[in-house]
Amino acid sequence: MSERWYKEAVVYSLQVDSFADSDGDGCGDLRGLISRLDYLARLGVTCLWLNPVHPSPLRDNGYDITDYYGIHPRLGSLGDFAELVLEARERGMRILMDLVVNHTSDEHPWFVSAQGSPDSPYRDWYVWSDTEPSDRKQGMVFPGEQEETWSWSDAAQSWYYHRFYGFQPDLNWANPAVRAEIRKVMGFWLQLGVAGFRVDAAPFILEQTVPGVASPPMDWTILDDWRSEVQWRRGDAVLLCEANVGAVDVPKYTGENPEGANDRAHMMFSFGLNARLWLALARGLAEPVVEALQSLPRLQAMAQWATFLRNHDELDLSKLTADQRAEVFAAFGPKADMRIYDRGIRRRLAPMLRGDRRHVELAYALQFSMPGSPVLRYGEELGMGEDLSLDGRESIRTPMQWDDGPNAGFSDAADPGDLVRPVVTRGPFSYRTVNVRAEQRDRDSLLRWFGELIDTVRECPEIGVGVCSVLDVPTPPSVLAHRFDAPEGSILLLHNLADGAVTVDIGRLPGTEGRPWEMFADGPYPRPAATLRNLSLNGWGYRWIRLRRGRSD
Ligand code: NOJ
Repeated sequence: MSERWYKEAVVYSLQVDSFADSDGDGCGDLRGLISRLDYLARLGVTCLWLNPVHPSPLRDNGYDITDYYGIHPRLGSLGDFAELVLEARERGMRILMDLVVNHTSDEHPWFVSAQGSPDSPYRDWYVWSDTEPSDRKQGMVFPGEQEETWSWSDAAQSWYYHRFYGFQPDLNWANPAVRAEIRKVMGFWLQLGVAGFRVDAAPFILEQTVPGVASPPMDWTILDDWRSEVQWRRGDAVLLCEANVGAVDVPKYTGENPEGANDRAHMMFSFGLNARLWLALARGLAEPVVEALQSLPRLQAMAQWATFLRNHDELDLSKLTADQRAEVFAAFGPKADMRIYDRGIRRRLAPMLRGDRRHVELAYALQFSMPGSPVLRYGEELGMGEDLSLDGRESIRTPMQWDDGPNAGFSDAADPGDLVRPVVTRGPFSYRTVNVRAEQRDRDSLLRWFGELIDTVRECPEIGVGVCSVLDVPTPPSVLAHRFDAPEGSILLLHNLADGAVTVDIGRLPGTEGRPWEMFADGPYPRPAATLRNLSLNGWGYRWIRLRRGRSD
């Protein structure tokens, strides 16, 4: 195990309100999550990323906070949170929490005070303009749900800036008092034992908004400060940035000098790779992934990617061209109600792949073979589906399906009408068939498969820490052949993105010792010879082949 735990982490992302309800009020809570930690430990994940748990009016799934030092009462108490951290640690799991500090809720006492009087000590904690900004209707993140980024406040008699919804006023990061307060917030949760933060909306925190200026300057010292603060408070804590930015900007988030030490965020979500993976899946061709891997920005040795296929938001295809986006829409989001904000798809993965088990396995094997640490969204390990009758991104936030009993075992006592969101009850993804208990009993289930995938990844540290290269050999266009090399060993990965069997000729590879052997595959294949000739691959098949074990044998 690397001393940098995040380089070999398997992250599980969940929202507490949808996971497990311990008190029967219909809303998941921290005690419910604690009661399910054994399930997560058995699955093999090593880190839990919790979506926001703080007091909030919940107009954006908790990303609109009214108290950074508290726990939303419907989820439990600070005591429950401390116990969660402890119980998770006992099972070898760390906790990451969302740090949502680009904005607060408009009901946060800071904003209420700021609006109430120009003399409020909090007035300058937000971003104001006395005159109507010329870019008032530009830069919206939620087109269709948001009409402007500057809104008029009657109470304040001024315009205030909000990159997201109007009820999420942006904090003024140019103000040292804001910086000091948020450092305190970070220190508070680190003191309670969290292993770091997923930094929500990182680019918008850094950008120093000026009314009417389209590309405002970025203040990187914010990340510098956070890094040193986090490191000082807890040596092994990490910052994981949510930043869907272009390749040239990525290294700025992890530290400017690619040869130097990683001195800003430890981890970045690989948004660019995510969109390309979906394009490749839509086409049944490896090329988009090959291009993405070859143009993947180089991070400093100690920085790490966090890979994902689905998260708690829409599948964001904004970085594809309009034609490419149309291809992914046609394949995986053909109906208008499956799409959102003109750029994304509001579905879970299993239904997007028509519930085809082989295709689902291929997609996740591919993700877990990408450079970085994999992030898995709750319920994906079961093949859960979405509920398109729910508004916007709520479609993919339905309760975890634990068993085929009332409320899918999510809440024993609540009336179904009182659940935080309805359970998926209809169609092939209904909780009656897709649930933990049924899949734990079935040795061939997707859940069991995920257990094996995660075990294998944890046995392949090369994927987290090694150097990734795409093989320079002719392969069928549907096949991605790549490898990782690290002191710990070398591994070859073959993925067939199309539904037709193929044969791959690799030839003898440098770095192979003795006869290679299969670590993980979609089915039985003849053992590969050292020459790696005539390797068959089923339609949507995958083979992870170890070429060498390193010094850690
Ligand atoms: C990014 C989060 O992922 C998303 O769910 C949220 O709506 C916005 N930030 C605003 O906080």
